[in-house]
Amino acid sequence: MAQSDLLVASWCKSVKSLPANYIMPPELRTTDFSVSKDIPVLDLEQDSGNGRSTLVQQIIKASEEFGAFQVINHGVSDDLMHETMRVYEEFFSMPVDDHESLLSDDFFKSVRFYTSGYSYANEEVHLWKDSLKHPACAHPLDAVVQGWPNKPERYRDVITKYSVEVNKLNHRILDLICEGLGLEHGFFRGELSKVMGMVINNYPPCPEPSLALGLHAHCDPYTLTLIQQQVYGLQIKKRGQWIGVDPIANAFIIMIPYQLQVISNGKLSSCEHRGVTNSDTARISIVTFCGPSDESIIGPAEELVSASNPPRFKTYKCSDFLMNYLDHLSKRKLSNETALGPYLL
Ligand code: OGA
Ligand code: NI
Repeated sequence: MAQSDLLVASWCKSVKSLPANYIMPPELRTTDFSVSKDIPVLDLEQDSGNGRSTLVQQIIKASEEFGAFQVINHGVSDDLMHETMRVYEEFFSMPVDDHESLLSDDFFKSVRFYTSGYSYANEEVHLWKDSLKHPACAHPLDAVVQGWPNKPERYRDVITKYSVEVNKLNHRILDLICEGLGLEHGFFRGELSKVMGMVINNYPPCPEPSLALGLHAHCDPYTLTLIQQQVYGLQIKKRGQWIGVDPIANAFIIMIPYQLQVISNGKLSSCEHRGVTNSDTARISIVTFCGPSDESIIGPAEELVSASNPPRFKTYKCSDFLMNYLDHLSKRKLSNETALGPYLL
C-alpha cells in the first residue's frame, strides 16, 4: 500500500470502530483519561533578580519528582505559538499529494512524514498518529530550512521564527538546570545541545480511545524536550502511576530526557510519557528538542560524582546509545525495563 494511504488522517473518518491492527494488548491500554493539576507550573518571569534562585530550586525539585514541569511567561509570544499551531493544523489537513515527497518509512531520513511509530512495517499493532520530523533551525538563515516542507506557503517563515525562539528557551532552561546542579556556567552549551530537532504529532479523533494508543510509553533520548499542545493527550508516569498533563494555554511542557538523567548522575529523573487519544478533537503536539551530537561522550558530570556519590551510569558515545535506544524500542517489552539498562552501574 502507498505510504499516503497508511496515514491515519487519510482513512480515519471512514471507520466507526478501531481496525484490528490498532487494538493494543490490554496491558498497554488506558481507561484513565483524567487530567492532573499536580505537575508544577513555573513562572519564568521570576528569572531576574531575587526570584532566580527560587526558580532554580523549583525547576530542580520538579525535575527530581516528576521529570517534567510546565512553564509560563517564557518569552515565546502567544501570537507565534498560535500561528505555529495554525500552520500545523493546515499542514495535516492538506491533500497528501502535497506531501508525497516527504513520506517515508525510513527512520534515518532527517526529514520525514510518516505514520505510527518509528517503523510501521515492523510493528504488530500501530499507533493512532501521523508525524512530521525535521531538524530545527538555530539561525534565521540556517541551511536546514531548505529541507523543510514548503506548504503551507508560510511554513518556512513561521517555523524558522518559532524554532529560533524555542531553541533560545531550551538553552535558557538548560542554563537554569546547570545552575541548580552546580555545574560550571555554560556546561550544556555546545556539544550537549548541538543537535536540534522538531517532531510534530497529529492524533486524529479516534473511535475507541480506550483500545488504542497514540504514542507508546518512552523516555526521550535527548538533553531537553519542550512540548506545545492545546488538547489533552499527554500522560507522564510518576512512581508507577500515569498522570495526565493539563493543556494550559500558551505554556510549554518541559521534560527531562535520558541524557540529563545520566549527566546529573540520576539526581534528575527522565520522564516516561505516552500519548492517548480522544474521540472528539484532533490533537497536535509540537515537540522541540536539543540533544548531543553523535560523537559526544556522555556520562555523569565529574563535578557530581565523589567517593560518597559514585557514578551510577557508564560513560558512552552518544551514537552507540542511540543504536541501543532504537533496538530497545523495536523489541518493546511489556516489562518496565529501561533503555538505560546497558549503562547502569
Ligand atoms: C514525542 C512525544 C508527546 C506528545 O514525540 O517524543 O513524546 O504529546 N510526544 O505527542
Ligand atoms: Ni517523547
